[in-house]
Amino acid sequence: MVAPGFVFGLVLPLLLRADASADVGFRFASYIDNHMVLQKEPAGAVIWGYGVSGATVTVTLCQDQETIMKKVTSVKAHSNSWMVVLDPVKPGGPYEVMAQQTLGRKNFTLRIHDVLFGDVWLCSGQSNMQMTVSQIFNATSELSNTAAYQSVHILSVSLTQAQQELEDLAKVDLQWSKPTLENLGHGNFTYMSAVCWLFGRYLHDTLRYPVGLISSSWAGTPIEAWSSERSLKACGVPRQGFMPSDLETGPSEYSVLWNAMIHPLRNMTLKGVIWYQGESNVNFNRDLYNCTFPALIEDWRQTFHDGSQGQTERFFPFGFVQLSSYLSGATPNDGLPEIRWHQTADFGYVPNLRMPNTFMAVAVDLCDRNSPFGSTHPRDKQTVAYRLHLGARAVAYGAKLTFQGPLPQKIELLGDMGLLNLTYSQPIQVQRHNNKIFEISCCSDHQCKWLPAPMDTFSAQTLALNVKSCHNSLVAVRYAWTTWPCEYKQCPLYHPTSALPAPPFTAFITNQIPGYRSKVAK
Ligand SMILES: *[C@@H]1O[C@H](CO)[C@@H](O)[C@H](O)[C@H]1NC(C)=O
Ligand SMILES: *[C@@H]1O[C@H](CO)[C@@H](O)[C@H](O)[C@H]1NC(C)=O
Ligand SMILES: *[C@@H]1O[C@H](CO)[C@@H](O)[C@H](O)[C@H]1NC(C)=O
Ligand SMILES: *[C@@H]1O[C@H](CO)[C@@H](O)[C@H](O)[C@H]1NC(C)=O
Ligand SMILES: *[C@@H]1O[C@H](CO)[C@@H](O)[C@H](O)[C@H]1NC(C)=O
Ligand SMILES: *[C@@H]1O[C@H](CO)[C@@H](O)[C@H](O)[C@H]1NC(C)=O
Repeated sequence: MVAPGFVFGLVLPLLLRADASADVGFRFASYIDNHMVLQKEPAGAVIWGYGVSGATVTVTLCQDQETIMKKVTSVKAHSNSWMVVLDPVKPGGPYEVMAQQTLGRKNFTLRIHDVLFGDVWLCSGQSNMQMTVSQIFNATSELSNTAAYQSVHILSVSLTQAQQELEDLAKVDLQWSKPTLENLGHGNFTYMSAVCWLFGRYLHDTLRYPVGLISSSWAGTPIEAWSSERSLKACGVPRQGFMPSDLETGPSEYSVLWNAMIHPLRNMTLKGVIWYQGESNVNFNRDLYNCTFPALIEDWRQTFHDGSQGQTERFFPFGFVQLSSYLSGATPNDGLPEIRWHQTADFGYVPNLRMPNTFMAVAVDLCDRNSPFGSTHPRDKQTVAYRLHLGARAVAYGAKLTFQGPLPQKIELLGDMGLLNLTYSQPIQVQRHNNKIFEISCCSDHQCKWLPAPMDTFSAQTLALNVKSCHNSLVAVRYAWTTWPCEYKQCPLYHPTSALPAPPFTAFITNQIPGYRSKVAK
């Protein structure tokens, strides 16, 4: 084992010395490599790297030996970095990207091949984002289903943390690759995210052009670890607090994952982000999540927009998964309804005023009692990704389709009949009756109690609840406001054609317009 390295060690310095001034340190950024996907038109893709201060760098895009475009820049002093923005390119490929550094009479050339243009999505969050295809339902068939998706390429960022914002990734687990059984099914909670992969696959089915997926997530991590100091300050997050230990834990120190796993990507042009996180905040800074989450979105958007010289849209589409159900483990999880609500900035739906251009996959009905990875890790990631991609198609690609389940638009108390009529924004399909999932807040004097409101009759878009149990003043109504509101795909209300579940909500009954934003006293 020693000999070859020894010989190599003798030879290499001699080779290097011949051209030392020109090639030392000339390289692409860590995640610019063969098989990468660059963001397509109308944005311009960013290519960057490091070199010798003052040198000229010429970046050439070629296809079939033909030069498509050339961009010239120089290596900046101090940072020793260079960057070019390509002209917008139509989706497709493969292309070759060449970068040549010229310093005096010395040239040095780097090349990457099989570069595609398409849409680049970044996927982040905690364990439910990190779960791999080998851990989900029907893993074997999902893993073998890659032949049709050879232009969906994947990259997985290594688990690293840092005290300072890094300019480049310290490490990647999986460099840009085509999907294979091995890299999609590489063990549990490592390499490629199943939600990310399936989301990209569903998108590719409709887009029919290349998709680039970047997985950068870490199990058991709170939002504070993924947030910059700036955004934590904007929400008045108290200084580093104690995080209750959960089933699995990753780093919880503030900003360390933002610094090492997100900030280094800011100079690349992206289409959008998807996010599956929140479990680690059920018992940690929970009541700040309605600020920390919108603030993270805003901060990532500003940073990526600036980092790509305006090529990544200022309000790029940001999708997320509203948390599913899980059984109480070591720590109480009664905060799940609240965190689901806070994921929407307390609106109950997205996009909304505080979360523009966002989309959400409701997962409240995708519980998995028997998951070998614990009920915190439901194995149906196909439905999660499917619902998420519907949101992306509507919000990011402008398709006219239903991407969110029904919410009441009008709430009417028919006192003499003992009914509370909910008129929904969309047609409803009552899949099954459930006499506990709707609750009303019934108050006398200064005492309020939540009582079940059994489902009575319904029509195409209206549902009547029986509220006869409340003889006093009825002030609020809520739906699916528990940790585990229903069994797998058996919540009572869905949208009939899209099969999207009605999201959980809580609303005051002040007038006929539901007061979604108001928090109801317990
Ligand atoms: C280096 O590259 C430049 C620009 O492509 C070219 O004009 C020059 O001839 C090259 N020099 C050498 C030594 O290859
Ligand atoms: C993944 O987890 C499952 C369930 O606990 C286990 O059976 C399997 O051996 C694990 N796979 C690896 C590669 O560790
Ligand atoms: C967030 O939720 C908490 C607790 O419900 C509430 O007190 C606070 O006003 C909310 N903040 C925002 C910004 O909506
Ligand atoms: C990345 O973007 C930031 C912010 O615009 C900029 O300061 C930095 O120089 C960029 N990096 C490179 C390699 O150009
Ligand atoms: C798994 O495969 C079966 C048989 O094709 C199908 O009915 C089921 O919906 C699949 N499960 C998921 C979660 O996709
Ligand atoms: C209330 O809902 C029931 C059941 O859908 C419907 O028959 C009735 O007409 C509704 N009443 C009003 C006033 O909307």
